[in-house]
This record gives sequence, structure tokens and C-alpha cells, in this order.
Amino acid sequence: MKTKRSSNPPKPMYHHLHLHLPFFFFSSIFCLLTSAKVIAEAEAKAAVGYGYNIQSVHYDSSGNSLTANLGLIKSSSLYGPDIPNLNLHASYETKDRLRIRIADSKKQRWEIPQDMIPRQTKTPTPHHHCISHDLFFTLRNTTPFGFTVARCSSNDVIFDTSPHSSDPNTFLVFKDQYIQLSSSLPHNRSSIFGLGEHTKSSFKIIPNQTLTLWNADIGSVNPDVNLYGSHPFYLDVRSASQAGGKTGAGTSHGVLPLNSNGMDITYSGDRITYKVIGGIVDLYFFAGPTPELVVEQYTELIGRPAPMPYWSFGFHQCRWGYKNVSDLEGVVAGYTKAGIPLEVMWTDIDYMDAYKDFTLDPVNFPLDKMKKFVSTLHQNGQKYVLILDTGISNNDNYETYIRGKEADIFIKRDGIPYLGNVWPGDVYYPDFAHPESEKYWANEMQIFQKALPFDGLWLDMNELSNFRTSPPTPSSTLDDPPYKVNNSGVLRPINNNTVPASALHFGNITEYNAHNLYGLLEAKATSNALINVTGKRPFILSRSTFVSSGKYTAHWTGDNSARWSDLAYTIPGILNFGLFGVPMVGADICGFSGDTTEELCRRWIQLGAFYPFSRDHSEKFTIRQELYLWDSVAATSRKVLGLRYRLLPLFYTSMYEAHKKGTPIARPLFFSFPQDITTYEINTQFLIGRGVMVSPVLKPGVNSVDAYFPAGNWFDLFNYSKSVSVSSGQHVRLDAPPDHINVHVCEGNILALQGKALTTQAARKTAFELLVVVSSNRQSSGEVFLDDGEEIEMGGEGGKWSLVRFYSGTENGTVFVSSKVVNGGFALSEKWIIDKVTFIGLEKVGHGLEGCAFNITKGANLNANSDIRASFDSNKQFVTVVISD
Ligand code: GLC
Repeated sequence: MKTKRSSNPPKPMYHHLHLHLPFFFFSSIFCLLTSAKVIAEAEAKAAVGYGYNIQSVHYDSSGNSLTANLGLIKSSSLYGPDIPNLNLHASYETKDRLRIRIADSKKQRWEIPQDMIPRQTKTPTPHHHCISHDLFFTLRNTTPFGFTVARCSSNDVIFDTSPHSSDPNTFLVFKDQYIQLSSSLPHNRSSIFGLGEHTKSSFKIIPNQTLTLWNADIGSVNPDVNLYGSHPFYLDVRSASQAGGKTGAGTSHGVLPLNSNGMDITYSGDRITYKVIGGIVDLYFFAGPTPELVVEQYTELIGRPAPMPYWSFGFHQCRWGYKNVSDLEGVVAGYTKAGIPLEVMWTDIDYMDAYKDFTLDPVNFPLDKMKKFVSTLHQNGQKYVLILDTGISNNDNYETYIRGKEADIFIKRDGIPYLGNVWPGDVYYPDFAHPESEKYWANEMQIFQKALPFDGLWLDMNELSNFRTSPPTPSSTLDDPPYKVNNSGVLRPINNNTVPASALHFGNITEYNAHNLYGLLEAKATSNALINVTGKRPFILSRSTFVSSGKYTAHWTGDNSARWSDLAYTIPGILNFGLFGVPMVGADICGFSGDTTEELCRRWIQLGAFYPFSRDHSEKFTIRQELYLWDSVAATSRKVLGLRYRLLPLFYTSMYEAHKKGTPIARPLFFSFPQDITTYEINTQFLIGRGVMVSPVLKPGVNSVDAYFPAGNWFDLFNYSKSVSVSSGQHVRLDAPPDHINVHVCEGNILALQGKALTTQAARKTAFELLVVVSSNRQSSGEVFLDDGEEIEMGGEGGKWSLVRFYSGTENGTVFVSSKVVNGGFALSEKWIIDKVTFIGLEKVGHGLEGCAFNITKGANLNANSDIRASFDSNKQFVTVVISD
């Protein structure tokens, strides 16, 4: 698109509008919002910029997009010179997705390349204004210009960059190393979630804070400072419009500024402002209108979450500081003896020879003993995962280093590999932007895997972490940019404890631009390598993440501390990663740093048993915290992990849903109850899948919990005859004695449960119990996904998998349950038996039930495509039908 001169009068643009493109308004309206407050910030006085004017507008003939040329009104020198001419392109990419891209019209700038994050684009089909989609874009010919995105169905403005003439902080600023974009938000009506990674005490983002995105190895103990990953995506859930408008409570949309550069995001409650130190403005809007649909649309763009192997939903034990192989063996034996499920044993950096990746400590973790250890784990149906750090020791006797040097694979600065310092001492960092890096990495993995058949990999220190802070290159605007993001909450220079921003990746990509992408690129290379090496579905746990990391990896919330506050922080942390498309997420159970206590560890495993990724992990200098070490913790672990293993089909089926649609495994309450605005404020509870609610104790010394229950009948999964019924959302005080966590299932759900066992393999061999939670006002339903648990694709074309749906309802006073096989590619007949159906909630339904329709026979399997009918007594609180000859 050619840029026109600023002398172009606006008139022809109106002409364009009316003739060709009625759905793009181009007007002189200043602002739709009257309530937006002007935010007085320190920088306002500094006059950061003067904004841009519209010079010309062009529409494409399909009616899908618009291009505008923008000219700088007046320059300001703060944070460097302004870019004089910009190009704005707005387009409907799908019926639910609007993209607004603003870039330098003269010069190509850094943008995340397609091969790093393949954006799922579709061939655009014409989208007619407010017929086939619900978002409309309005360009505002004001001085400076602004734009809005609103919802057709309700006129609700979801993003509004209209400038406040008195406040330069509201203007678009576009410099080489400083981009500012600001939108007002409706006061009190918009609840925002996302914008990570930070430790949060509240899941909903509370006003008046600056959230920084710059990947850093900063322990996760301090709320609100930038952490290991960067996810500039947010979900905005709206309460009903005060003016009685058409926006129903729970109407949701998503916003992603796709940008890998460091940034500060300030949120005041009625305004959000991005201050980014590079790249371009590449804004995506996802129309929703439900939270679930927003995540579906978001992950459609960035890639759906990777399927995780079935075994990874078992319980994991890790510790930094295991001394030797017999230490590991002792831990595994401790779990067996205590009768607590242990699926995966991990080793931290201790197993390595002088902390070198792909080596074993010859004294404490010698190959022969480790081989035997891993082989015993495998014989017992257990797995082994090990850590890999990013730094490769620059040691001339170390083959991984030698091969890396030969392949010229390391990140460089001033023309030579950049020397960092991590656990092994001096290191070089593999450059995962290098086209040969995957081959190099896969080769190292293959050699090591052949020697020691590990089952999964843990990628740590990939922010990149560096114990060394190298001095900036004198006068480098990369190492010392004019605008300082609030790194670490104390304006720490961006180069501190990482690879300097002036270092170079392959293709002259600067660390400055690619810094936040390192963990993503490493996970991607590792995933591809593992698939090649093992031929199985990979399991990877990465500390550093970026937009789309969920396509390759699981995540844990990093180095927390054994404190009650940290226990509570894990819920917002886990829920956020669900929104980011990384549904396989957990936190270090019992706390990483600091000595845990029996009570804290007991409460932590009660909650952690329901994290999608459930791992106990601790720091070297703390007391040991394996679950069998205290009797009370062991007892509670058997109970809660027992329920987790019974719920494995639910976790795994939720994984399938996440992989197909992006829906998180652990979900905020408002995913299932979007119209209940109280749920937006809940930080202490969550759902697994659609209808299982976890309400943990998060404080010491208490034996009850105040849990919020959205409207409905809820049943305690540890004791079906205990229930909570509320006709509208309500806080309810529940007993929570020391050994108990409250886990409830909501009416309307059918859960396919399996039996308790010490491994997932053994649990999978038990028969199913269908738990039918009868609903008074709707059919109950549920589904179960089955495959071998490690086929590379999950539910893919040509794959061997099955999906069975269950339905239940009342018909002429009779309760029925039926199943339907949606896909039956995985041999169902012999293995998968339902030997029990339990109905709960009958007395709540209570309108003259005469019987239950049920016709399952002994040995009936999930392949039964027929109704299941039988009779039963409706006086009982719940009825279990045992299937017998
Ligand atoms: C980092 C990791 C932690 C690990 C430690 C030693 O701090 O976050 O989980 O135990 O390094 O490898």
C-alpha cells in the first residue's frame, strides 16, 4: 500500500466508506465513552509523543480489510526519534478474529517470524458487517487519530484508543525502541485475566499496577514482578451493561498484542496501556462471546496445546539434592511401602557430571546403576524424567560442547560465542533460532536416550538464566534502551543475569528482540527431537514460555516457597496458564524453598492432587518433603491421590478437549458459570473440566473453608450423600478437617471414574464406574476419551482412539442413561468395562420417580451403543447399580 501525503483531505475517505465498505466506519466521532478518566502519570508531563493523523484510507475489494496511512503530527525526542510514517492494516482473519497491525510504512521492523510461531491463518472469506461476525472496527479521524473495536450485537466498545487530547499517555507513540498504545476500558464492567507470567494473589487483575513482560529467572515468591514467561494475552469478561444494554454478564473477548519485545503493561481499571521496547503493533481481537470460545479462538491462532501422555497425569516426585541412586531407590520404595501412588521419579541437576547436560555423575549416579534403576521403574509401570539446563559447559573434553562448537550452534556476541555462567561454570548457549539446532539437540538426546531411556525432559534456566551480568556494549541502545521496563520490579537493567540484548542469534536476530522467545524455541526443538528419538508422544516441562509454548510443553510456576501465601498463589498461577494455552501446569507441591511443615505439606498435597500437573519438588537446602515422611501427610495423600487416580479419565478427557479446542483442564469457575459475576472474583477455587470443583484450605490452623457455590446441586466426591444446594450463587462454610479437601461435582455431569491404583497403568486396568449426577432442569452428560496414552497425535485422523458420550435425563418419571460412541477406533470391547453406575441427586430431582431406565449387562463395554435401563428405589439418596449376571 502506498503512503499518501498528509495533505490529503479526509473527504474522499468518507466517499470510500459509503461506496464500498459500510462496515468500516470512518468518522470524526471523538470517543464513545464518556466515563473514561484521564490517568495522570508521571510521563504525561514529559510529553512522550504527539500522535499520528490519518492521511489516507484504502479498502480492499473483498470488504475484509482496510489500510490507512498515518503521519506523525509532531515529534518528541523522549525515548528516541519518532517513526514518521506508519501503516495501519485492519482485517477480519476469521469470523471471530480481527487483526490490527501498525508498522513502519518505510522499513521492515522486527516481527516474530512465521516459522517461530506459525499463525493459523485461513483463506479470508468476505465477512459481512455484523452478520457473519460480531466485531467492528472504527477508525477515528481525530487529532491525533484513534480507533475502536466494538461488538455489533450490543454496541459494547471493547477497545478504544481514542486519545484524550490533554493526556499524551493515551496517544499512539511509535519509535524504534518505544511503542505506546493505550485503550480505555469501561469502568467497573470489565474484568481482566491473563497478562503473565507473574505470581498473583488475585486471579482477576486488580487495578493500578504495572505488569512487566521480560523473561527472567526470578523466584516466583514475589507477587506481580516479571517471571519466566511472557504472555501478553488477556481475557476480558464483561459484567452486564449498566445502561441496561444488550451485553449480558459473562460476554467475553480476548486481546493479544503479538510482540516478543520487553514491555510494561499498566492497568488502571479503566485503561490499559502497553509500553513496548520494540517490534510492531500486531493486535488480535477474539470475539468470544464466552470465555471458552475466546480461548478456542486464541489457540486456533497460536496453536492448540500439545497432548500429554496419560502417565504424566500420575503423581511426580522430584527434589534438587538427591544424593545418589540409592537415595532415589529409597524414595521410590518409600512411596510403595506407604501405598501412595508414584508415577514418575525425577532427577534434578545432581545426576549430571559437573552439571553438564547429557552426562551422568560417575560416582553417585553411574550409568549401570541408573540403567537398572530406570529399568526397574519401567517394569513397575513407572517413569523417569530428568532435567536439562540450557548452558553447555565450554569444556574441551565434553563432546556435547565439541559438537556444538563444530556446528557453530551457540549464541554470539561480537562475532564469538557469548560466554555465560550457570551451574557448570562457564557456558555457551545453544541458539534455537539456528536452523541446525534441532539436529544438534536431537543428536545429543538420541545418544543419551540410548544409554539411559528417560521418558520425559525438564527444561530449566531457559529465560535465559545467567549468573553473570556482562557489561553493556558502550553506547549500545540494545543493552541499554532509552525506555526501561520495570524488570524485577526495581527497573533492573534488562541485561542483568541474562544473555546481553546485543548478542546475536542466527540470521542476525538480536537477543533484544528474541529474548522472550528462547524457552519457546527450546521447547519446540526438544519436542521435535523427542518425537524423532522415541517415536512416542513427548512429555516436556519448561520453565520459560511464550505465546504458543503450550503446543510443545507443560509448565510449572517456578521457584515458590514453603509458605501459606505461596500455596494460595498457585491457583491464579495455574488458571492463568490455562488461559495462555498451556493447560498442563502445576506448582511445586509442599513448596520449593524454605522448610515445609507437616500441616502445610498436607494442605498442599490436598490441593496439588488436583493440579493438572502434580509434582512434589523442593530445594537442596531444605528438609525432605516426600509425602510418606509424615503419617498425616501420607494418609491424606492416599485419600486425595486416590481420588485423582479415580478421576484420571476426566483429566485425560479434559486434555483431549484442551488439545482440540484449547479449553483449560483447570478452569476458573466462570468458564462454567459466566453469568454469575461473583465467580470473576474467586481466587481460591477452580474447576477440573466442566463440573468438578476444588475448594482447598489455604490457611493454617483452620478446619473449615468458605467456598463459593454457583447455583445448583453439588455433591461431595468423597461422600456422595453430602451435598450443597443453592438456588443462586452463595458462599457456604464447609467442614475441612485436617485430612480433608472439599471436591464437589455439579449436577448435570456424568463422570467416568476408574479405580484407585498406585500407577496410572494399573488404574487403567480397572473397570469404570459411571457417576451420573442427575439434574433437575437439564440432561446430564459427560464423555470419556480413550487411546493408548502415548500415540503421538491425540484424537487425530487415522489414530486409534475412541470417544464415548454419556447422556442421562428423566423421561416419564424414569431416569435413563445412555452412551454413544462418537469414534470407536480404539479397541473398546474387551478392556473397557463399566461395572457400576451410580446415580446421585435423585432426591433433589424428586418428582415422582418411578424407576430408572437401565439395560447394561455384565461385561457391557463402552462400545455399547444402546440405552442402559433398569429400575430402582427413588427414596435413597443415591443409587448404585452393580452390574451382575
Ligand atoms: C532452578 C529450578 C528448580 C531447580 C533448580 C536446580 O531453580 O527452578 O526447580 O530445582 O534450578 O536445578
